[in-house]
Order: sequence, then structure tokens, then C-alpha cells
Amino acid sequence: MYHQFSHSASVVFGWGAFSVLGEKVSELDCKKAMIVTDKGVESTDTLAKAVKSLQDAGVNVVVFNEVLSDPPIDIVDKGGAFAKSEGVDCLIGIGGGSSMDTAKAISVLLTMPGTAKDYILSKPIYINTKTPVILVPTTAGTGSEVTKVAIISRPEINAKWSVFVNTTYAIVDPELTVSLPKAATANTGLDALSHAIEGMTTIMWGPHSDVFGESAIRKISKNLVTAYNEPDNKQARTEMMLAANFAGFAFNDPITHVGHAAADALSGHFHTPHGYNCGVCLPAAVKVIAPAVPEKMHVIGCAIGLELRGSESGEELGRLVSGKIYDIMRAVHIKPLKEMGFRREDVLSFVPDVVSSHLSSYCPVKITPEVAHGILEDIYDSYQ
Ligand SMILES: [Fe+2]
Repeated sequence: MYHQFSHSASVVFGWGAFSVLGEKVSELDCKKAMIVTDKGVESTDTLAKAVKSLQDAGVNVVVFNEVLSDPPIDIVDKGGAFAKSEGVDCLIGIGGGSSMDTAKAISVLLTMPGTAKDYILSKPIYINTKTPVILVPTTAGTGSEVTKVAIISRPEINAKWSVFVNTTYAIVDPELTVSLPKAATANTGLDALSHAIEGMTTIMWGPHSDVFGESAIRKISKNLVTAYNEPDNKQARTEMMLAANFAGFAFNDPITHVGHAAADALSGHFHTPHGYNCGVCLPAAVKVIAPAVPEKMHVIGCAIGLELRGSESGEELGRLVSGKIYDIMRAVHIKPLKEMGFRREDVLSFVPDVVSSHLSSYCPVKITPEVAHGILEDIYDSYQ
């Protein structure tokens, strides 16, 4: 019996830390970097600051700005072809999880022959990528800056598959989240909460994931609503950025489980934001696993702000923790699926997606079609 805790990326954290980007790339002896980002980031001053920082450090820069949310696999191939044609020796993903994951996936194509579909698989494999990858999150959510996984959409089959790669630096600057729209603050914060809770409760949990996960849950329960209501609140933004980063560490090795399996099914069919999906699926996942991991659910309950007696059953803890998550969701105005216009029968039809997801195999409860059906019912019916 053993636990594994890995982190490949050094983390540079702090308000204003983004300014060291050029210096860090230059230290790696890179001559030409490709920034991988989306049009949203391009329209802010973040991109201009990145280009200036790199040029001031003597690094040439090209920009690939075609990242889309739930990044489709053809964008990875397009970015890979552009990177090769430009002869870049460093990739810099700036944005949310989509930009960072696209940068990670492109790094595979700079090491290996073929196209992205050869490596983005339903059961992900590790590729020992060689090109340095610098990741700069502009949301406090995915933790992708410190995880090895790149999650990429296969739109033709309504699926999200992945690959594991190496990363080099995470430059984590909470100041970059100040301009984040309220809905994105809410959704990405719930994504981080789901990483922490699911990472602590997969069958591959470890003591390191517990430390990072518990701290992340505590920070999110204290700061997400404040960051949502007061976008300029420096302390809340800083704590949320740390929480997302800690949650990334928490699930990097243990992965996630049935909450994300259900969330990926919603993403594949409804194309709603990943963080929103993770938020609406998390309480049902908590309720189904709590009887199997009552001690862990007690720790999670305390971290999320519940006053517990210590004698609660697993089932009761599941109800209490999920109730607290519903409270947070309501406070940040997360809409129920019904209010979003989605039909119950469509949600229930996702049973095969949830059962077949490789993430469900990490759940402490066996995800049979009956269990998956119950989870999907709970997701639709219990949060109104
Ligand atoms: Fe996630």
C-alpha cells in the first residue's frame, strides 16, 4: 500500500507575480515562445503585459489566440502546426483551464509524431513532453496550472478525453482574476471545490491530497461568496486563487470521480461551463459517497464550516455537506438545470456516459447504471 504525490511545476505565487513571466522563460534559455490563449484574454491588457514581459527579457513571441472553451481536438492540431511552423521552444498557456490544457496538449505534438487524436484518449496515457510549458491561470478554478492532465473535447462523440504531460512553471497571480465576470467567479470557484472534495475521496486519496484539499475547502467556504460579491476584494481573490491552486495539488494524483464523470456528461451534451457542471453535480456525488467514507466526510464537513457533533452517520454527513454546498451555490446564483432549460429525461439519458467514464472507476462507491441513474435524478431534482 502506498500513496503518490507529485508536482512537476514550480509555483510562483503572489499579487503581481505575473510580471516575472519573461524572466522565468529567459531562465529556461528559450528563444521563442508561443502564447496559447483565447480571444477573451486577448481583449484584456493581460496579453499585452505578457508580450512586453517576454520581449523585455529578450524572448521572441507569437500568439495563438484560437482557444475555445471545452477545447476541441482540432484546435490542438492547429496550434501544434502553428508552433512547429514558427519553431517555438516554449509554450505559455494564459487563461482558464481551456487555454492551459490546450497549451499542455500542444506540447505533446512538439515531442511526438502524429496528431492529437493519437494521444487524447479515453484512458489517458503519460507523454514525457520536452518543450517547457508555463501556465498562467486567469481564473481561480481549474488548478490546471499544477496538474499533469490536459482535458480536450472530442465533439464528434460528445466526449472529453485527456493526456498526461510535463509542465514547468505555474505563475499564479490573483490580481489577474479581479476582472473576472461574476458568473465565471462562481463557476470556477465551484470547480475548485469539487476538485478538493473529489480529490480527497477517490480510491487513490493520500495524506497530501487531504492537506491541500482540506485547506482549499476551508478557503473556498470562507471566500467564494465574498469574491463573487466584491470583485476587487484583494484578500478574497488571493485566498480563492490559493484555494484553486491547492485543490489542483489535491486532485493531481488521486484524480476526481463521479461528480466530474457526471459533469463531463453535461458538458458533452449541454455545452454548459465545466465549473457550473461540477457545481451542480457535486452535492449528489457527496451524498452517494458519504456512507462509504464517513471519517473523510466529517473532515470535509468541518472544513466547509459545519458545526458537527462527531456522532453523525455517513448518510447524515452527506446530507449536511451537500446542504452547505447548495447554500454556497444559491449565494453565488447558480441556476438549477431546469431553470437553464434542460429536460429531466435528457439528464437521465446520460447514465451510460457516467458509468463508462474512467473517472467513475476512482469513486469509492461502484457506479452501476442504477447508482448513476440515482445520481442524475438527484442532480436534477434536489437543487431547485
Ligand atoms: Fe474540474
